[in-house]
Amino acid sequence: MTILVTGGAGFIGSNFVLDWLATSSEPVVTLDALTYAGNLNNLKSLEGDARHSFVRGSIGDTALVGRLLRSHDVRAVINFAAESHVDRSISGPAPFFETNVMGTLGLLEAVRGYFAQRSDFRFLHVSTDEVYGTLERDEPAFAETNPYRPNSPYAASKASSDHLVRAYRETYGLPVLVTNCSNNYGPLQFPEKLIPLMIHNALAGKALPVYGDGLQVRDWLYVGDHCSALRRVLEAGSLGETYNVGGNNQKTNIEVVRALCTLLDRKRPKADGTSYAGQITHVTDRPGHDRRYAIDARKIERELGWSPAEAFESGLEKTVDWYLANEDWVADVTSGAYREWVARQYG
Ligand code: NAD
Ligand code: TYD
Repeated sequence: MTILVTGGAGFIGSNFVLDWLATSSEPVVTLDALTYAGNLNNLKSLEGDARHSFVRGSIGDTALVGRLLRSHDVRAVINFAAESHVDRSISGPAPFFETNVMGTLGLLEAVRGYFAQRSDFRFLHVSTDEVYGTLERDEPAFAETNPYRPNSPYAASKASSDHLVRAYRETYGLPVLVTNCSNNYGPLQFPEKLIPLMIHNALAGKALPVYGDGLQVRDWLYVGDHCSALRRVLEAGSLGETYNVGGNNQKTNIEVVRALCTLLDRKRPKADGTSYAGQITHVTDRPGHDRRYAIDARKIERELGWSPAEAFESGLEKTVDWYLANEDWVADVTSGAYREWVARQYG
């Protein structure tokens, strides 16, 4: 048996593939279009491993996906492939709808033509808490029953893909599972997202750009915990169900940035003896910036016995250690196109 991982050269997808092959003998086919966010170096340690094969291509290519499903006798698809960065969706929404909506539609069509061949088939769609909108400071965390209220083009595109997955279940009986998780962090995250961007800028002596007052709250989930949740949902989740996955780690952005500065002060002190915190700069807020996300992960704990294992402090330290030990990886991904993005976004 084989699983097909789409978007497996990106941040969470590559962590999932590495994790899967470290804990299971079941082969993996990775399908990834290798956009700016996809990086084959993330899977370099699998070179020569006969259990892993990589195919460059799009989830929207129904014929290609159909061929892969049949030729590898795939028993599960885990769909990570997406455009995933909110700020990019604000400056240019169209690719988010091409990939996250039309791409998912193409993928679902391929699965529709195949799933009846395997009675144990599963389609696991990886989504985000951002589909639920924003919370006030004292509102209860997002449960699976919350209405969808996406506020950014990214969130709207993910919400649309979730609706498509639901419709394919109701209409065609596809054996689907959906997860909606909070902000991930950990090794191999592209330095456009908050935590790796701040580490990268701090070490480069650049400003640490905190949007607005920095009091927005995110619920940080260590990527290794996310991978274990996905394995559990695939193994035991009830068909047609949604599971929210969170880290029980609500932090304001400014707390996160300060914690990173403290870790870096200890691990890579600045030559002049000052703190990296001196580089913090408040910049213009993101338009439509969601104030708070928080996940109520009681359903997955109650029904599947999963809860996050990593504390925020230890997870953040592991993450900083990984970036300090992998400066070549960062240098590779922050060449050309990345610099153009940073220049456009931060001026
Ligand atoms: P990422 O941007 O790091 O990786 C996305 C991957 O998808 C890249 O390798 C890219 O090349 C690939 N891809 C893009 N378009 C494709 C297409 N048409 N066909 C095949 N591959 C394509 O994203 P990530 O942070 O790893 O997120 C993975 C998934 O998890 C996404 O669906 C995202 O919405 C969801 N998610 C992420 C977070 C987070 O904090 N990173 C939180 C909640 C949900
Ligand atoms: P991000 O990592 O882009 O994830 P998301 O927008 O999906 O939550 O951002 C996390 C938080 O950090 C979000 O509130 C926006 C904020 N942020 C900054 O303050 N400065 C930055 O340079 C970036 C990239 C994000």
